[in-house]
Amino acid sequence: MSWEAEVEKLLSITEGEVFEKATLKALWKLMNSGVIERFEFPISTGKEGNVFRARGNHGMVAVKIYRINTATFRSISKYLMYEPPQKVKRDRRSIIFAWALKEFNNLRKLDRAGVRVPKPIAREGNIIVMEYIGTEEQPAPLLKDAAIENYEEVFSRLREYMRIMYQEAGLVHADFSEYNVLVNGDDVVIIDVGQTVSRDNPVAMEFLMRDVRNIANFFRKVVNVDEEELLKYVVGDSE
Ligand SMILES: Nc1ncnc2c1ncn2[C@@H]1O[C@H](COP(=O)(O)OP(=O)(O)OP(=O)(O)O)[C@@H](O)[C@H]1O
Ligand SMILES: [Mg+2]
Repeated sequence: MSWEAEVEKLLSITEGEVFEKATLKALWKLMNSGVIERFEFPISTGKEGNVFRARGNHGMVAVKIYRINTATFRSISKYLMYEPPQKVKRDRRSIIFAWALKEFNNLRKLDRAGVRVPKPIAREGNIIVMEYIGTEEQPAPLLKDAAIENYEEVFSRLREYMRIMYQEAGLVHADFSEYNVLVNGDDVVIIDVGQTVSRDNPVAMEFLMRDVRNIANFFRKVVNVDEEELLKYVVGDSE
Protein backbone atom coordinates (compact mmCIF):
# COMPACT_ATOMS: atom_id res chain seq x y z
CA MET A 1 0.00 0.00 0.00
CA SER A 2 1.34 3.44 -0.80
CA TRP A 3 -0.02 6.69 0.45
CA GLU A 4 0.42 8.42 -2.90
CA ALA A 5 -1.32 5.63 -4.75
CA GLU A 6 -4.32 5.73 -2.40
CA VAL A 7 -4.67 9.49 -2.71
CA GLU A 8 -4.37 9.18 -6.50
CA LYS A 9 -7.11 6.56 -6.45
CA LEU A 10 -9.31 8.75 -4.27
CA LEU A 11 -8.84 11.64 -6.67
CA SER A 12 -9.73 9.50 -9.65
CA ILE A 13 -12.87 8.02 -8.11
CA THR A 14 -14.09 11.45 -7.10
CA GLU A 15 -13.29 12.82 -10.54
CA GLY A 16 -10.55 15.10 -9.38
CA GLU A 17 -12.34 16.57 -6.42
CA VAL A 18 -9.91 18.72 -4.52
CA PHE A 19 -9.16 17.53 -1.02
CA GLU A 20 -8.12 20.25 1.36
CA LYS A 21 -4.89 20.01 3.28
CA ALA A 22 -6.83 19.22 6.45
CA THR A 23 -8.53 16.27 4.77
CA LEU A 24 -5.24 14.89 3.52
CA LYS A 25 -3.73 15.25 6.97
CA ALA A 26 -6.62 13.33 8.58
CA LEU A 27 -6.38 10.69 5.87
CA TRP A 28 -2.68 10.38 6.46
CA LYS A 29 -3.23 9.70 10.17
CA LEU A 30 -5.89 7.07 9.53
CA MET A 31 -3.66 5.31 7.02
CA ASN A 32 -0.69 5.47 9.33
CA SER A 33 -2.64 3.73 12.08
CA GLY A 34 -3.81 1.08 9.62
CA VAL A 35 -7.54 1.80 10.04
CA ILE A 36 -7.54 2.53 6.31
CA GLU A 37 -5.25 0.52 4.08
CA ARG A 38 -6.94 1.02 0.75
CA PHE A 39 -9.97 2.59 -0.82
CA GLU A 40 -12.19 0.36 -2.90
CA PHE A 41 -15.14 2.27 -4.32
CA PRO A 42 -17.32 5.29 -3.69
CA ILE A 43 -20.62 4.49 -2.00
CA SER A 44 -22.11 7.94 -2.20
CA THR A 45 -21.17 11.43 -3.26
CA GLY A 46 -23.41 13.95 -1.54
CA LYS A 47 -23.51 17.66 -1.03
CA GLU A 48 -21.83 17.52 2.34
CA GLY A 49 -19.27 14.88 1.60
CA ASN A 50 -18.37 11.48 0.26
CA VAL A 51 -18.72 7.98 1.61
CA PHE A 52 -16.29 5.28 0.46
CA ARG A 53 -15.83 1.58 1.00
CA ALA A 54 -12.35 0.94 2.26
CA ARG A 55 -10.39 -1.83 3.88
CA GLY A 56 -8.02 -1.78 6.81
CA ASN A 57 -7.17 -3.47 10.08
CA HIS A 58 -10.88 -3.62 10.99
CA GLY A 59 -11.76 -5.30 7.69
CA MET A 60 -14.29 -3.61 5.40
CA VAL A 61 -15.20 -0.13 6.61
CA ALA A 62 -17.25 2.85 5.48
CA VAL A 63 -15.33 6.13 5.39
CA LYS A 64 -17.32 9.35 5.47
CA ILE A 65 -15.34 12.43 4.47
CA TYR A 66 -17.03 15.73 5.18
CA ARG A 67 -16.22 18.39 2.67
CA ILE A 68 -14.73 21.47 4.25
CA ASN A 69 -15.69 23.88 1.48
CA THR A 70 -19.25 22.73 1.39
CA ALA A 71 -22.22 24.47 -0.10
CA THR A 72 -24.30 23.29 2.83
CA PHE A 73 -21.84 24.74 5.29
CA ARG A 74 -24.41 27.32 6.32
CA SER A 75 -27.01 24.73 7.21
CA ILE A 76 -24.43 22.93 9.32
CA SER A 77 -23.58 26.12 11.18
CA LYS A 78 -27.28 26.58 11.73
CA TYR A 79 -27.60 23.15 13.33
CA LEU A 80 -24.56 23.77 15.47
CA MET A 81 -26.20 26.95 16.67
CA TYR A 82 -28.87 24.79 18.28
CA GLU A 83 -26.19 22.76 19.96
CA PRO A 84 -22.97 24.74 20.13
CA PRO A 85 -20.02 22.50 20.90
CA GLN A 86 -17.88 23.66 23.80
CA LYS A 87 -15.21 26.18 23.00
CA VAL A 88 -15.45 25.72 19.26
CA LYS A 89 -13.50 28.05 17.06
CA ARG A 90 -15.50 29.81 14.42
CA ASP A 91 -13.51 29.01 11.33
CA ARG A 92 -14.95 26.67 8.74
CA ARG A 93 -12.48 23.88 9.37
CA SER A 94 -13.07 23.80 13.13
CA ILE A 95 -16.81 23.79 12.61
CA ILE A 96 -16.67 20.85 10.20
CA PHE A 97 -14.35 18.98 12.57
CA ALA A 98 -16.79 19.58 15.42
CA TRP A 99 -19.61 18.32 13.20
CA ALA A 100 -17.77 15.08 12.37
CA LEU A 101 -16.96 14.58 16.04
CA LYS A 102 -20.61 15.11 16.88
CA GLU A 103 -21.69 12.44 14.42
CA PHE A 104 -19.05 10.08 15.77
CA ASN A 105 -20.13 10.65 19.39
CA ASN A 106 -23.78 10.21 18.47
CA LEU A 107 -22.95 6.87 16.84
CA ARG A 108 -21.22 5.88 20.04
CA LYS A 109 -24.11 6.86 22.29
CA LEU A 110 -26.65 5.13 20.08
CA ASP A 111 -24.59 1.98 19.73
CA ARG A 112 -24.21 1.78 23.51
CA ALA A 113 -27.93 2.34 24.06
CA GLY A 114 -28.79 -0.53 21.73
CA VAL A 115 -29.95 1.34 18.63
CA ARG A 116 -28.67 -0.40 15.49
CA VAL A 117 -26.26 2.05 13.87
CA PRO A 118 -22.93 1.43 12.12
CA LYS A 119 -20.35 0.80 14.84
CA PRO A 120 -18.07 3.81 15.13
CA ILE A 121 -14.41 2.92 14.55
CA ALA A 122 -12.33 6.08 14.28
CA ARG A 123 -12.59 9.83 13.80
CA GLU A 124 -9.86 12.10 12.60
CA GLY A 125 -10.56 15.71 11.64
CA ASN A 126 -13.41 15.72 9.12
CA ILE A 127 -13.29 11.95 8.55
CA ILE A 128 -15.37 9.25 10.22
CA VAL A 129 -14.61 5.56 9.89
CA MET A 130 -17.44 3.22 10.77
CA GLU A 131 -18.73 -0.28 10.27
CA TYR A 132 -19.59 -0.92 6.63
CA ILE A 133 -23.16 -2.08 6.06
CA GLY A 134 -23.54 -4.26 3.00
CA THR A 135 -22.08 -7.22 1.22
CA GLU A 136 -18.62 -7.69 -0.22
CA GLU A 137 -19.97 -6.56 -3.60
CA GLN A 138 -22.36 -3.78 -2.73
CA PRO A 139 -23.52 -1.47 0.04
CA ALA A 140 -26.93 -2.08 1.58
CA PRO A 141 -29.81 -0.24 -0.11
CA LEU A 142 -31.70 2.57 1.54
CA LEU A 143 -35.10 1.70 3.00
CA LYS A 144 -36.72 3.67 0.18
CA ASP A 145 -35.15 1.35 -2.44
CA ALA A 146 -35.01 -1.94 -0.57
CA ALA A 147 -37.14 -4.96 -1.39
CA ILE A 148 -38.98 -5.48 1.89
CA GLU A 149 -40.58 -8.81 2.69
CA ASN A 150 -42.16 -7.87 5.97
CA TYR A 151 -42.99 -4.18 6.37
CA GLU A 152 -44.67 -4.83 9.72
CA GLU A 153 -41.38 -6.18 11.09
CA VAL A 154 -39.24 -3.34 9.75
CA PHE A 155 -41.69 -0.77 11.07
CA SER A 156 -41.80 -2.25 14.55
CA ARG A 157 -38.03 -2.38 14.65
CA LEU A 158 -37.70 1.27 13.66
CA ARG A 159 -40.36 2.24 16.15
CA GLU A 160 -38.37 0.48 18.86
CA TYR A 161 -35.14 2.20 17.81
CA MET A 162 -36.85 5.58 17.90
CA ARG A 163 -38.09 4.82 21.39
CA ILE A 164 -34.67 3.73 22.66
CA MET A 165 -33.06 6.69 20.95
CA TYR A 166 -35.35 9.10 22.74
CA GLN A 167 -35.81 7.41 26.10
CA GLU A 168 -32.46 5.70 26.66
CA ALA A 169 -29.96 7.72 24.62
CA GLY A 170 -31.85 11.00 25.10
CA LEU A 171 -31.52 11.90 21.42
CA VAL A 172 -33.72 12.89 18.50
CA HIS A 173 -32.41 11.87 15.07
CA ALA A 174 -33.72 15.01 13.33
CA ASP A 175 -33.40 13.57 9.80
CA PHE A 176 -35.17 10.26 10.23
CA SER A 177 -36.68 8.95 7.03
CA GLU A 178 -36.48 6.16 4.43
CA TYR A 179 -33.37 7.99 3.13
CA ASN A 180 -31.37 7.39 6.30
CA VAL A 181 -32.12 3.76 7.03
CA LEU A 182 -30.17 0.91 5.43
CA VAL A 183 -31.68 -2.52 4.97
CA ASN A 184 -29.10 -5.27 4.86
CA GLY A 185 -31.02 -8.54 4.68
CA ASP A 186 -32.58 -8.87 8.14
CA ASP A 187 -30.50 -6.05 9.51
CA VAL A 188 -32.12 -2.60 9.73
CA VAL A 189 -29.55 0.12 10.37
CA ILE A 190 -30.00 3.81 11.11
CA ILE A 191 -27.40 6.17 9.61
CA ASP A 192 -26.57 9.85 9.26
CA VAL A 193 -26.66 11.10 12.84
CA GLY A 194 -24.63 14.31 12.44
CA GLN A 195 -27.63 16.56 12.94
CA THR A 196 -29.02 14.45 15.78
CA VAL A 197 -29.85 16.60 18.83
CA SER A 198 -30.31 16.08 22.53
CA ARG A 199 -33.92 15.67 23.59
CA ASP A 200 -33.40 18.55 26.02
CA ASN A 201 -32.85 20.87 23.09
CA PRO A 202 -35.66 23.43 22.67
CA VAL A 203 -36.08 22.33 19.04
CA ALA A 204 -36.05 18.59 19.82
CA MET A 205 -39.82 18.11 19.94
CA GLU A 206 -40.29 19.85 16.60
CA PHE A 207 -37.67 17.56 15.03
CA LEU A 208 -39.13 14.49 16.67
CA MET A 209 -42.58 15.29 15.32
CA ARG A 210 -41.12 15.61 11.83
CA ASP A 211 -39.21 12.31 12.19
CA VAL A 212 -42.38 10.56 13.34
CA ARG A 213 -44.33 12.06 10.44
CA ASN A 214 -41.73 10.90 7.89
CA ILE A 215 -41.79 7.35 9.16
CA ALA A 216 -45.58 7.28 9.47
CA ASN A 217 -45.91 8.58 5.90
CA PHE A 218 -43.54 5.99 4.53
CA PHE A 219 -45.23 3.02 6.20
CA ARG A 220 -48.82 4.23 6.00
CA LYS A 221 -49.51 2.55 2.64
CA VAL A 222 -48.50 -0.88 3.91
CA VAL A 223 -48.85 -0.87 7.68
CA ASN A 224 -51.59 0.36 9.96
CA VAL A 225 -49.82 3.32 11.56
CA ASP A 226 -51.12 6.27 13.52
CA GLU A 227 -48.82 9.28 13.80
CA GLU A 228 -50.19 10.34 17.15
CA GLU A 229 -49.79 6.86 18.63
CA LEU A 230 -46.28 6.53 17.26
CA LEU A 231 -45.23 9.80 18.86
CA LYS A 232 -46.70 8.68 22.19
CA TYR A 233 -44.90 5.38 21.93
CA VAL A 234 -41.56 7.04 21.26
CA VAL A 235 -41.89 9.63 24.03
CA GLY A 236 -43.38 7.24 26.61
CA ASP A 237 -45.15 8.15 29.84
CA SER A 238 -42.51 10.65 30.92
CA GLU A 239 -44.20 13.68 29.37
N1 LIG B 1 -21.89 2.63 7.24
C1 LIG B 1 -22.33 2.64 5.98
N2 LIG B 1 -22.31 1.48 5.26
C2 LIG B 1 -22.75 1.47 3.98
N3 LIG B 1 -23.23 2.56 3.35
C3 LIG B 1 -23.27 3.73 4.01
C4 LIG B 1 -22.82 3.82 5.36
N4 LIG B 1 -22.97 5.10 5.77
C5 LIG B 1 -23.49 5.78 4.73
N5 LIG B 1 -23.68 4.97 3.67
C6 LIG B 1 -24.21 5.37 2.34
O1 LIG B 1 -23.76 6.67 2.05
C7 LIG B 1 -24.86 7.54 1.87
C8 LIG B 1 -24.57 8.92 2.47
O2 LIG B 1 -24.35 8.78 3.87
P1 LIG B 1 -25.08 9.73 4.91
O3 LIG B 1 -26.54 9.64 4.76
O4 LIG B 1 -24.50 9.43 6.24
O5 LIG B 1 -24.52 11.13 4.45
P2 LIG B 1 -25.27 12.46 3.99
O6 LIG B 1 -24.40 13.56 4.41
O7 LIG B 1 -26.69 12.47 4.40
O8 LIG B 1 -25.20 12.35 2.45
P3 LIG B 1 -26.46 12.47 1.50
O9 LIG B 1 -26.70 13.96 1.40
O10 LIG B 1 -25.97 11.83 0.24
O11 LIG B 1 -27.60 11.73 2.16
C9 LIG B 1 -26.04 6.87 2.49
O12 LIG B 1 -27.23 7.23 1.85
C10 LIG B 1 -25.72 5.40 2.32
O13 LIG B 1 -26.14 4.97 1.04
MG1 LIG C 1 -28.26 10.80 4.36
